Amino acid sequence: MSRRKIIIDTDPGQDDAVAILLALASPEELDLLAITCVAGNVPLHRTQTNARIVLEAAGRTDVPVYAGCPAPLHRPLVTAEHVHGKTGLDGPELWEPQMPLAEGSAVDAIIEALRSHDPGTVTLCTLGPLTNIAAAFNTAPDIISRVQEVVMMGGAYFEVGNITPAAEFNIYVDPEAAEIVFKSGAPITVMPLDVTHKVLATRPRIEAIRALDSRVGHFTAEMLDFFERFDVEKYGSEGGPLHDPCVIAWLLRPELFSGRHVNVEVETRSDLTLGMTVADWWRVTDRTPNALFIGDADADGFFELLTQRLARL
Ligand code: BDR
Ligand code: CA
Repeated sequence: MSRRKIIIDTDPGQDDAVAILLALASPEELDLLAITCVAGNVPLHRTQTNARIVLEAAGRTDVPVYAGCPAPLHRPLVTAEHVHGKTGLDGPELWEPQMPLAEGSAVDAIIEALRSHDPGTVTLCTLGPLTNIAAAFNTAPDIISRVQEVVMMGGAYFEVGNITPAAEFNIYVDPEAAEIVFKSGAPITVMPLDVTHKVLATRPRIEAIRALDSRVGHFTAEMLDFFERFDVEKYGSEGGPLHDPCVIAWLLRPELFSGRHVNVEVETRSDLTLGMTVADWWRVTDRTPNALFIGDADADGFFELLTQRLARL
């Protein structure tokens, strides 16, 4: 099987960091071309720093990290330090990364990657607000038909919202960008809160990762120690939802997930429901399906995969 070429567009974020580590630990299946950073959980200077810290923790400083859009297309940035801590990566002791930021913008890097590889061979894994992707699609519409797939963490239907009662964070931060991506015609798979809220980093699962007793094992467990607090308090659940790694796990083991091919539209005008993903789960409209919307996952299978893979780093 040929390795799937991916770009990870991200705003790390502890769960983003775990997604990056899972991709790095899976070189047989995934060829990580670049990490492109966007403002989201924390401002851009912090997300690009965090991406470089994660690569250094994994000893993979060969992967280029680009900085992209510092703010959403048409709105001021909303961040989530209340979830991820001041650095975005609170938990382990952090350091100033030594590896340099790649020259040029993330948006140009995405355009260049899609133009320079064969059509249909580059997948965009989006773990944050969709600003960089929408900016690339706006600047170079020719790349849209060259995208193999957008695999996105974002949105919700049954779980509705986590940053407002109606909206999930990644979509809420830049709803206009999300709308551009959903209307683009590129093949899309969505990991909404409906599935990520079933993939919980419970205490025994975190301890299994810590027990790897490696640098990456401790780094990951310490991030998850911090990350779970917020969601356990908020939802009263047994652990924090590991949102973003679902994107990578789906590329590795799609059989762990199930969903429906449906139409998804994004609310961009209402103050009350801004950023809501209106998914036609019950197919009650004649709107054309534009995304595979995932609803369920085998959480034990997911954590088995994650722990086994992290053991390789
Ligand atoms: C998403 O928002 C961020 O806080 C997480 O990293 C994830 O991408 C979940 O709503
Ligand atoms: Ca994220």
